[in-house]
Formats: sequence, C-alpha cells, structure tokens
Amino acid sequence: MSVQDQPTITSAYRSVGVTFESLVCNSEPFREAIRLAASAAGKDVSILLLGETGTGKNLIAQAIHNASRRHTKPFVSVNCSAIPDSLLESELFGSEKGAFTSSDKLRRGKFELADGGTLFLDEIGDMSAIAQAKVLRAFEYRQFERVGGEQTLHTDVRIIAATNRPLDSLLATGKFREDLFYRMNEFTIEVPPLRSRKPEIEPLAQRFIKECNERFGTHIKSIEPDAMKKLQAHSWPGNVRELRAVIKRASVAAPGEQIRSDDLRLSVGPTPTDEVKPDGDLSMSSVEAKHIEKVLNKTGWNKKETSGLLGISRPTLDRKITEYNLKKPD
Ligand SMILES: Nc1ncnc2c1ncn2[C@@H]1O[C@H](COP(=O)(O)OP(=O)(O)OP(=O)(O)O)[C@@H](O)[C@H]1O
Ligand SMILES: [Mg+2]
Repeated sequence: MSVQDQPTITSAYRSVGVTFESLVCNSEPFREAIRLAASAAGKDVSILLLGETGTGKNLIAQAIHNASRRHTKPFVSVNCSAIPDSLLESELFGSEKGAFTSSDKLRRGKFELADGGTLFLDEIGDMSAIAQAKVLRAFEYRQFERVGGEQTLHTDVRIIAATNRPLDSLLATGKFREDLFYRMNEFTIEVPPLRSRKPEIEPLAQRFIKECNERFGTHIKSIEPDAMKKLQAHSWPGNVRELRAVIKRASVAAPGEQIRSDDLRLSVGPTPTDEVKPDGDLSMSSVEAKHIEKVLNKTGWNKKETSGLLGISRPTLDRKITEYNLKKPD
C-alpha cells in the first residue's frame, strides 16, 4: 500500500484493554486454549477460533491482537453474517469515488483499514458461497481492488477468523469452501464450552456480580450455596454469555446481598448430553434445534426473552429458527 493510501487510524479501531490476564481462567481445558492462543499471538500465523456461541472467541481474538507485535495498530472486526452479499465487497475492500451512483467519496474497506494490524473475520461459518469466493484471494495474497478501482492494493494484516458453527459438517456438505478453510486453518484453537469448564463458573459469576455492582449499583456480596449448586449443574447452552445474563438478572432481582436459588432463571430443556437415545439423531445441531424450540415454546415465542435465556443475540436466534425450520405451534 502506498503512503498516500495509508488509512487514517482512529481510536475506534483500536482494541481496548483485553489481555489474556484479564480473562477469567480457572479450568484445564480453557487454560490450554489460552496457552495455545498466547503461544500463537507472537508468531503472526492466521488463527481460526472454533467454539460454541458465548465461549469467549471475541475476547480471545482481542487478547491475541494485544499480545502481538501489531498491538499498536488497528484491530478491525467484521461480522460476516451481518453483511449482505451486495455490500460485502465494498465493506471488505472499499470503493472508489463514483463506483456507485450514491458514492461521492472514496471509502476504504476493512482489509485496508486493518493495515499493519489484525483483521478479525467473525462468524465466517455464515458466509455465503459468493462471499467466500471474494475473500479467498485477499486471504491468500493480501491483495484486492476497491470496488470500481483498477489498482491492486496490498495490505499487511494478520487474520483471525472465528465461528460457532460446526465447520466440519459445513465442509462435508459443501457449504464451506475447502480451499478457504485450509488457508484459514493455519492454527486452529478450539474454545471449550462452559459445561466442560466447571471450575470457572464460580469465579466468572463473581466477576459478573462485581460488574453489576459497579454498573447498576446493586450490593450483592455472595451466592447462596444452593444457588451455586444450581449454576454448577446447569448445561449452559449459551455458555459464558448466558451465565453473564443469568447473574445480571439475579443481581437485580435479589432482595438482599445474596443471590438465592429463586433469583436464578435458567433456560430449560435437555443438556446436549442427557438425551442420548441410541437410535435417535445424536448430532449437536439436532439437540440444539430441540432445545431452542423448547425454550421458544416456554416463552410463547417471545424472541427477546428466548434469546436472553439462551444467551444468544436476536439475529443469531432468527438465523437458527430459519436454519432449523422451527415453526410456532398453531
Ligand atoms: N473468560 C472470560 N472471562 C470473562 N468474561 C468472559 C470470558 N469469556 C467470555 N466472557 C464474556 O462472555 C460474553 C461472550 O463472549 P464472546 O463474545 O467473546 O463469545 P463468542 O465466543 O465470540 O460468542 P459468539 O460465537 O456468539 O460470537 C462476553 O460478554 C464476554 O465478555
Ligand atoms: Mg463472537
């Protein structure tokens, strides 16, 4: 990239404050994921973060950037599932003045804005075939053209990609390009689900109580032993995000200084492991579909409440309803 093409770096593109030390980590599986991430941080390889929703992939991506030699440069995040195909090319690669009837000035894309720093391609499992084809060359050669432009630009970015979708089944069904996968897959880190990180539940809950006390002026000091047992026994389909939402609600609902069992509103339904029928469909996606349907029915298809209980965002819930073809009962 030539000097006059250098993007203006604003603080909005800097990743704030997340370091490996700032993450709550108190279990062997998560410690191993963090060890791998910290080890890869200084080595400039592309990193692929895999793990269920809410396990901490965004935080880990930021911690990697902040521990890398690129930490003084931008951390630019792109949510691939949120950008329609028609806009993706200009979002990622930018557009020249006059490229569209409405474009009265040059716009730099994310690949260019991240120059020198880290580009975080989030939710890559949701990218359409068209989007995957467009990203492939930029991913491999760090080369691209702005929409409406002829000049090939080069960018020096480290790419971290993440998805909560089962990439192996997307690959097997041809929904994800193998060539793109192998380029992203230089160094894969699996972020374990919260149900296999039980010793982390208590310190995470304490962290979120502290956050609530500071943010909402609550005065919670502890969690009743029965309530703690309930938190330990839960399967946490929405992982750390779900735990955070549960603690936030309980902190506000608790009448005193202690969170009681009654203050906890936990999502209902089978854990991904407790409904194992040898002749049934045992895939994670089948269990997830059933679980989401159960929670939707429990809330009378109130999507706001359902996404809160599941610990996932509204767009993710909408996507899963479409994906699993879930229908509101008559
Ligand atoms: N180890 C941790 N310590 C403290 N907070 C955490 C930790 N892991 C996750 N969180 C919190 O949990 C929430 C979800 O984390 P994050 O957004 O990184 O998940 P994700 O894996 O990217 O989820 P998704 O796949 O849905 O995008 C955030 O509010 C984050 O701050
Ligand atoms: Mg994320």
